[in-house]
Amino acid sequence: MIKHFLKISDLSDEEITGILDLSLQLKKELKKKGANKPIFKNKTLAMIFEKPSLRTRVSFEVGMTQLGGHALYLGPNDIQMGKRETIADISGTLCRYVDIIMARVFEHKALQELTKLATVPVINGLSDLEHPCQIMADLLTMLEYKKRLKGLKVAFVGDGENNVTHSLAVAAGILGMDFRVANPKGYAMKREIVNEAISLSKKSGGQIKEFSNLTDAVKEADVVYTDTWISMGDEAEKEKRLKVFKGFQITNKLMNMAKSDSVFMHDMPAYRGNEVATEVIDGPQSIIFDQAENRLHAQKGVMAFLIKNSQKIKK
Ligand code: NVA
Repeated sequence: MIKHFLKISDLSDEEITGILDLSLQLKKELKKKGANKPIFKNKTLAMIFEKPSLRTRVSFEVGMTQLGGHALYLGPNDIQMGKRETIADISGTLCRYVDIIMARVFEHKALQELTKLATVPVINGLSDLEHPCQIMADLLTMLEYKKRLKGLKVAFVGDGENNVTHSLAVAAGILGMDFRVANPKGYAMKREIVNEAISLSKKSGGQIKEFSNLTDAVKEADVVYTDTWISMGDEAEKEKRLKVFKGFQITNKLMNMAKSDSVFMHDMPAYRGNEVATEVIDGPQSIIFDQAENRLHAQKGVMAFLIKNSQKIKK
């Protein structure tokens, strides 16, 4: 069976660790020699976007180029997923041309549709449910800064029912991290995700806890993480959300509750004065640009793993 990467739990703990190792090697090779070996020569990635993107689009395209391959951008008006033709017909056709597909979609089920006829790996470049590529980069960044993942205390403050929160929680479950979420009432993680994360954490020794109080969640944290209050697709609720989330801002005062060597992370785009105070995101604990850079290195690892896997199956 072709291995796709739609959810963080499509990978086991060994696979995640292996991809992080590989990503780190590729990063070191690039920094030391100024170039990577062209392991994707003659390989093409199709990138489907239903929503805007800066980091995902650029890091995938640059990653492909650096490894000797090519990336093809298909924007909302190019293929019009599910409008001009069925999603299954799109993937049935695309995989006759390309070696790997990445898609950023509104509804997670569009990704599942894409995999139905796909004979090449499909990667989730963000859906309403999960953002697993972001989390691979986040794990790489945490590992670089904190030298470990198991037992690491990560506090997420803000929108619980959010793709980034979901993938972080499940990753914490897989890897044995101590994950805490503080969200306003009515904006908790989806129950299916909490259940999955808790059941995985029983095996790994991790912890998944939900709080309504910010300081309880952030106390003694190694990493403090937030995301926008208004994700792509939530724009109609903007005014309501700005009111509900007020008070869930990461401030210096809140950062002082975390460990003294804690770091601040954000997947970006970030809205200063909403989910995070300018003093924090532009302050000394913020590692947002290292985190953004790691999208590039982590995704190269993910693609190398998936392409290698699909080649084994075709043999
Ligand atoms: N939760 C955000 C992530 C952006 C990278 C969104 O879905 O818009």
